[in-house]
Amino acid sequence: MRQHVNPLSNNFDKFEKIISLKEMFNDSELNLHLDIGCATGEFLFNLALVNTNWNYLGIEIRERLVKTAKVKLRESKIENLYFVFGNANKILSDVQSQFILNNLKSISFNFPDPWFKKRHYKRRVIQSDFINTLSISIKKGAFIFIKTDVEELFKYMDFTLSSNLNLKKIDKNDFNYSTSFNPNRIQTNREKYVINNEFDIFEMIYMKI
Ligand SMILES: C[S@@+](CC[C@H](N)C(=O)[O-])C[C@H]1O[C@@H](n2cnc3c(N)ncnc32)[C@H](O)[C@@H]1O
Repeated sequence: MRQHVNPLSNNFDKFEKIISLKEMFNDSELNLHLDIGCATGEFLFNLALVNTNWNYLGIEIRERLVKTAKVKLRESKIENLYFVFGNANKILSDVQSQFILNNLKSISFNFPDPWFKKRHYKRRVIQSDFINTLSISIKKGAFIFIKTDVEELFKYMDFTLSSNLNLKKIDKNDFNYSTSFNPNRIQTNREKYVINNEFDIFEMIYMKI
């Protein structure tokens, strides 16, 4: 299976119709978390099963992975989880999706693709315009979590988010995970691999002020 798709390709100009939160979830009033680049959604399945007082939404650009996640979801009894296929940058920059941003408690970018070559930096999911769009539309007090094992990518992402005047860095040691979208510190697939291989993990939390 292809590991990367080019998010700038015309294939991703269009995306599926984004339905209302009431149609996505059994109880649309629950706290809402968005995971960008959720792959097969295993992390979100694990979260949704345990934290039934949260709703979880995943966006993933690889269609086959989203199809698999949707089939698994249909076969389960989970009602606080939903997946959308497409380029997160396009979907969340569209006016029709603003209600998602307006209702979020938190967003995670877990181990996004590094796109190492300089000429491919524009393919990175974190771009200053995109972060600006997110930071304008999310509520005050909403959190953005970033995590990666690539130090260079971390520096780039941290610079991009820190430069945004709507966001403030939160000291991890002062952060109360027990009230967050991931109270049990469940790990993503990539995170498990990174930990097993004893690579470093670089992470940061930002809050909308
Ligand atoms: C390295 S994988 C990490 C998967 C998962 N978050 C984890 O931690 O195990 C990065 C994922 O982000 C997805 N992705 C990359 N750019 C994206 C974009 N613009 N919109 C949505 N998903 C994207 C990739 O297809 C891939 O599944």
